[in-house]
Amino acid sequence: MSHLKLALIGAGVIGKRHLRAMQSTEGVALVAIADPFPSARETADAHGVPLFSSTAEMLTEVNPDGVIIATPTEHHCEPTLLALESGAHLLVEKPMMATLEECQRTIEKSAATGKHVLVGHHRRYYHLVNQARDIIQQGHLGRLVSVNGLWNVRKPADYYAADWRRKWQAGPILTNLIHEMDLLRYIVGDIHSISAETSNTVLGFEKEDTAALIMRFANGALGTFMLSDQSHSPWSWEQATGENEAFPRSGRNVIQFMGTEGSLEFPNLKLWKSDTGDSCWTNPLTPETLGGELEDAYINQLTHFAAVIKGDEPPRIDAQDATDTLSATLAVYDAAKSGSRVQL
Ligand SMILES: NC(=O)c1ccc[n+]([C@@H]2O[C@H](COP(=O)([O-])OP(=O)(O)OC[C@H]3O[C@@H](n4cnc5c(N)ncnc54)[C@H](O)[C@@H]3O)[C@@H](O)[C@H]2O)c1
Repeated sequence: MSHLKLALIGAGVIGKRHLRAMQSTEGVALVAIADPFPSARETADAHGVPLFSSTAEMLTEVNPDGVIIATPTEHHCEPTLLALESGAHLLVEKPMMATLEECQRTIEKSAATGKHVLVGHHRRYYHLVNQARDIIQQGHLGRLVSVNGLWNVRKPADYYAADWRRKWQAGPILTNLIHEMDLLRYIVGDIHSISAETSNTVLGFEKEDTAALIMRFANGALGTFMLSDQSHSPWSWEQATGENEAFPRSGRNVIQFMGTEGSLEFPNLKLWKSDTGDSCWTNPLTPETLGGELEDAYINQLTHFAAVIKGDEPPRIDAQDATDTLSATLAVYDAAKSGSRVQL
């Protein structure tokens, strides 16, 4: 069976993560890298593929079946439109685009070319995330009443040494919270409205240090979320799961889902329900831990991308869905700035 031809645009931190996953994914082969910076030469040589400084030239020369876009977010749009025009299906890193206007152009181009855009919200490929989704969407907690989440880390001072990292676009809402917003949208469903407060009192930069959110989901559940990149705590997805070896694993739960018939701690999937089935505050709740080992979500994502290219599966998160995640994330800024609830 012939392999699907994949090209990578942008061979930086996450681009290399995709290359690592590609080596363990069946049915796909890397055929080229496009990156205008000389540092990409070493990566291309290590993988034995040609390096192009021009995306357009790469697309014409190698005519890939699928393209992974892993450039900085403000440079997602141009290669996305070019690659769709060339007839390739895309896996675009998150946030899908820098603006909602660019998202709209992408949705229109995808429809016009008939080529799929899959967006790199990789957490959707973990089994435990899908288990949590099933527990909630199949009603095992009864009616979902509320959600409470945390993402609290302390980034080092040199993270913000570069000027651009001090701007709002590099703050923890757009960089980190977007993963949480996508996770909540995937597990719980659409977000209807958001209120928020932000603060920058620790570092004093344009970007926020901390955000507090209140959300109403379309299914009627309410949610709260506390985010900070200036608080040293064991409560973040990365520390909870140990997904990335750079962040020591704490193994703590960081989200609680609470329903009329029981509750779920996440990501360890500790399910709290009454043995008698009678959900009342005088009845004891017995915990059951359902979680398992964490797989490599990037391999699962690439395997799915191959199925999308072949037309065997629809994208698990397409351009419209990822636009809705970006829209919900950007609404946090609007809500904090205006001091009023933003409807989505
Ligand atoms: N899914 C995740 O968890 C995750 C994690 C990290 C980054 N990301 C996303 O991935 C994207 C890249 O982030 P990164 O940390 O890898 O950045 P990076 O700076 O490490 O890498 C970007 C690469 O793109 C290249 N590049 C820049 N402009 C280009 C252009 N016009 N055409 C081709 N190549 C170009 C650069 O030379 C560099 O090699 C961002 O959108 C980021 O939000 C996602």
